[in-house]
Amino acid sequence: MIKNILIVDPLHDSAIEYLSERYHVRVEMHPQHEHFVELVKDTDVIVLRSGVQLNKAVLSAAEQLKLIVRAGNGLDNIDQDFARSKGVSVLNIPHASVVSVAEHTFALMLSLARHVPKASGWLKDGIWAKAQLSGFELNEKTLGIVGMGRIGLQVAKRAKAFNMDVLATVANDSTERRIELHEQGVGVTSLDELLTKADIICLHVPLTAQTEQLIDAQKMRLMKSTAVLINMARGGVVDEHALYQALQSKRIAGAASDVFAQERTHSPLFELDNFIGTPHIGAMTEDVQRHIGNQVIEFIETYEADGDQR
Ligand code: MLT
Repeated sequence: MIKNILIVDPLHDSAIEYLSERYHVRVEMHPQHEHFVELVKDTDVIVLRSGVQLNKAVLSAAEQLKLIVRAGNGLDNIDQDFARSKGVSVLNIPHASVVSVAEHTFALMLSLARHVPKASGWLKDGIWAKAQLSGFELNEKTLGIVGMGRIGLQVAKRAKAFNMDVLATVANDSTERRIELHEQGVGVTSLDELLTKADIICLHVPLTAQTEQLIDAQKMRLMKSTAVLINMARGGVVDEHALYQALQSKRIAGAASDVFAQERTHSPLFELDNFIGTPHIGAMTEDVQRHIGNQVIEFIETYEADGDQR
């Protein structure tokens, strides 16, 4: 039976309200490790996003834990194998945010192309500068999508509307997949060729042992000096130190990132003029968060209803 629910990342107010009327709900944003270990001791359900690490040490302390609900997609911050070995169910919501994340990719792409944050900042500071704000069109540029999953596909569809050429890397490089993507105007290629040819590169791969530091100094050397890099995946997919150097030396023209290896803290990247950052807000839309809130409720209620059969 579910009694205690612990919420450690932002969740839609309507979901918190609904759950609080039915369960004992504690909302503790991003607890530090020691505090987290204390909090989980009598918790039946943990609801989290990407803001905490649900590792072995925390899970070991969670003696009555039954269900982990990832209020979003990525599971890289959860030791899933260990959780499941303890009989804990791990559920995520992979589809809800794909459109919002794809749209945010374009927000960053257009911001890089047209210097939107800088232009707005200067304007508000009383500087009317046009000559220094010359940008580039997306029209006829080559977009390289690293990771053609659910989000990558939404990005590709929108890129076609901007009349871009689209190249992509895929996890499953079968002939059928190549044909399927070819019909959608997407050319499948290797990572190195994509990095060499693309004007704009966006990352949409999960963080795994294979993708950690995937874009390192050597990969950045393959990119055109006019190219820009957009990271909507996870901070760990890019070697941020190498990115800092590539941007500072103008080895590449620009970069934008919604995700960082260390989040909720300063990054040296923030000091660079050719870098644009947002605080992991790809999925932060009313549309997505309301949907996710409802799904979290459904997961918890279904678990409760099926509880006897487990
Ligand atoms: C996700 O994996 O769902 C996203 O990164 C959203 C988030 O955790 O904020």
